[in-house]
Amino acid sequence: MPTEAKAGTSESQIGVHWREEPLTEPPGSFVSQANMSDPSVFERFSEKNFPKCFEEYADLLTWDSKWHTILDAGNPPFWKWFVGGKLNASYNCVDRHLTSHGSKAALIWVPEPEDEPTRIITYRQLYDRVNEFALLLSEFARLHAGDRVTFHLPMIPELPVSMLAAARLGIIHNQVFGGFSAKACAERMEDSKSTVLVTIDGYYRNGKLIDKKKEADVTVTEAERLGTKVEKVLVWRRFPGQYVSEAPMVKGRDYFVDEAMKPFSGKTIGPVSMDAEAPLFLMYTSGSTGMPKGVQHRTGGYLAYVAGTSKYVQDIHPEDVYWCFADIGWITGHSYIVYGPLALAATSVMYEGVPLYPDAGRPWRIAERLGVNIFHTAPTTIRMLRKAGPDEPSKYTFRFKAMTTVGEPIEPEAWRWFYETVGKKQAVITDTWWQTETGGFMCSTIPALSPMKAGSAGPGMPGIYPIIYDEDGVEVPAGQNRAGNICIRNPWPGIMQTIWGDPDRFVRTYYSKYNRNKESKDWHDWPYFAGDGAVLAADGYFRILGRIDDVIKVAGHRLGTKELENAVLATPEVAEAAAIAMADELRGHVPVIYVALKPGTSSSKELEERIKENVVKELGPVARPRLVHIVPDLPKTRSGKIMRRLLASISDRTDYGDVTTLANPDIVETIRRQVQAE
Ligand code: PRX
Repeated sequence: MPTEAKAGTSESQIGVHWREEPLTEPPGSFVSQANMSDPSVFERFSEKNFPKCFEEYADLLTWDSKWHTILDAGNPPFWKWFVGGKLNASYNCVDRHLTSHGSKAALIWVPEPEDEPTRIITYRQLYDRVNEFALLLSEFARLHAGDRVTFHLPMIPELPVSMLAAARLGIIHNQVFGGFSAKACAERMEDSKSTVLVTIDGYYRNGKLIDKKKEADVTVTEAERLGTKVEKVLVWRRFPGQYVSEAPMVKGRDYFVDEAMKPFSGKTIGPVSMDAEAPLFLMYTSGSTGMPKGVQHRTGGYLAYVAGTSKYVQDIHPEDVYWCFADIGWITGHSYIVYGPLALAATSVMYEGVPLYPDAGRPWRIAERLGVNIFHTAPTTIRMLRKAGPDEPSKYTFRFKAMTTVGEPIEPEAWRWFYETVGKKQAVITDTWWQTETGGFMCSTIPALSPMKAGSAGPGMPGIYPIIYDEDGVEVPAGQNRAGNICIRNPWPGIMQTIWGDPDRFVRTYYSKYNRNKESKDWHDWPYFAGDGAVLAADGYFRILGRIDDVIKVAGHRLGTKELENAVLATPEVAEAAAIAMADELRGHVPVIYVALKPGTSSSKELEERIKENVVKELGPVARPRLVHIVPDLPKTRSGKIMRRLLASISDRTDYGDVTTLANPDIVETIRRQVQAE
C-alpha cells in the first residue's frame, strides 16, 4: 500500500485532524523544584554515550552485585541489559526505604464508597504484608523463582502487595486486568502454565459490589478445559472477616488469604537475589492476530527504566503525593503506580472505583483531601470528567505541580481544559507515548526543559531515538506533515525481553518489518516497529496518530479486532464478522461489529443483544460492542480480505473513497444506507 494511503488511514482512524498547536512554557514554580532541569541530560543520553547513559537509571537502584556489561546486543533482537548484575525488585521498592521512610505512606488506598475510610499503608506495613504473602506463596502454594502466578484482581492494595511478594521470590507475576472475563484469565493461565490463581471475593465498581470469586470458578473450569489444572485459588477478602461472594469456597482448592497467612504473621523471608535478566512479570496484550501475547519484562532493565522515567518525567520526589488514576491491570499501573513510584519511595495513591462515582467532583475531592500534587491519567478519563463537570475542579483547592496523560492521543480541546481548569495553569503536562511492550515512556517532554504542545507527545525520551519510516523503510523527515510508522532505532532497558513461549512471534511482530539484515549483530540494523502511525513536526515533536494494525483502543484499553471477531463468531447464526473502532467523543473509540449471517437465519434485536453478550462473556465488559450491524454481506477485496477500514468510515460518516476494485463494490452503498439510517 502506498505511504500516502497508509498515512490517510492512520489519521482517519482517530478521526481528528489537528492543526499545529502553539508551545506552552512550563511554569517557573515547577522548573525551580524539578528533578531534571539540566539541559545536559540530552547530551549525556545522546547516541555517542549509548548505552552507557542508562547507567544513570540503574544507579537509582540498589544492586546486590554490579553488572559487567551494560548492553549485550550479541543476539539481536534479544537484548540483554546490565548483564551479570543481581538485584531484587521487591527489596528496591520496599526494604531499602525502611530506614528513612518506614513510617511514611507507601500506598494510600481510597475505596469507592465515599463513606468508607481511606487506608494508609506505610512502607513498614507494606514490608510486613509483602513478607507474609511471600511466605504464603512459597510455603503454602509451593511456588519458586521462575514459576508463574496469576492474579485476577481489581484496584485494591492487595494487588501491589501480591506483585511485590511474587517479585521478592523471583516468581513471575501475571496480572490479568480485572475487567477481563474469567475466560480471558483462563487462557492466560494456560498460556503461561500457571496453576495458582489469586483473586478476591468482591469489589466496588460504580456503586455496585461485584462478585469476583464467582468468576474464579469459571476461570478454573475453563483453564482445566484448556489443559491447565488450577491447584489453588487464594482469595483475598474485601472486608476483614466477611465473605461477600455467593460462590462457595471449594474445599482443598480455595483458601482465604487472611486465614492461610496466619502462621506467617510477623515472619519474614529474605528477598531472592535475581539476575538482572530474570523475568519479573508477564502482561498479556492484544496484537493483530490470534491469542494475546504474553509480553515478558525483565527485572533489572525494566526497574531501572521505570525508576529513571518516574523521576525525570513524573518528577517524583519522596515528599510528593502521587496519584496515577489508571488500573494496575495495565502496564501504566505496573510501571507508574507500583514499580516506578515505589522504587523512588513515593506515596502512591490508588482508587478503587470509576471517575464519576458518585459525581464528577470525586477525583478532585480525593486530590484535595490527600494533598495530591502529581496527577496522571488517560485522555478518556479527562474527557469524561470535562463533559460531566467542566467547572468541578475550580470548586476544590488541590494544586498539582505536574500532570501526565497516557494511552491515547489527547485532543487539544481536552488538553486545554486539563491545563487551564485542572492544572489551574500552575502544572506542567507531559503527554507520554509508549506501550505495554516498551515498559516505560518512549516519547515525552522532560517537563522543566521543553515546552508543552497540546496534542503532541513530544520528542524521544533521553536515550530513545525514534524515527518515522515509510512502508519501504525510507525515513520520513521532520516537518513534511507526512505520516509514517514510528520506530525506535535503538534498544533500551525497558524493552520487553520476548513474547512468553514464542520468540519467533516476538521477532516477527516487532523487528522483521524494518530489519536490514537478519544475520547482523549490529543493533543499528534492528529498529523496533511500534505499530503506530505518527507525524514528526519540524521542532522534533512526535504526534501519534493511532494504530496502523488491527489493534483498537477503547477508552484507553487495548483490544484486538481478531479477538472481538472470534468472540462474535461464537454466536451460531454468524457467518462472518468484522470489528471496527468507531470514533466516540468520550471514550476515544468504541467497538462496533458488522456481521453477515448464515443462510436461513434472520436478523433481530435479540440476536444483536446475544452477540454483544457473547463478546462480554468471552472477553469481558471492557469489550462490549456499542453497536452490532447485521448486514447482507461484508465488503471484501478480490483476495477475500474484509475491508474493515471502509466499515469504520461508514460508522464515522467520513468519505470511504474509491471502492470499485472490491470484489463486491455494490454492497458498500447498501451498508452505508442501512447503517446511517439506523
Ligand atoms: O496506539 C498507541 C497508544 O496506545 C498504544 C499502546 O497501548 P498499551 O500497550 O495498552 O499501553 C498503553 C499505556 C502505555 C500505543 O501503540 N498510545 C499510548 N500512549 C499514547 C498513545 N497514543 C497517543 N498518545 C499517547 N500518549
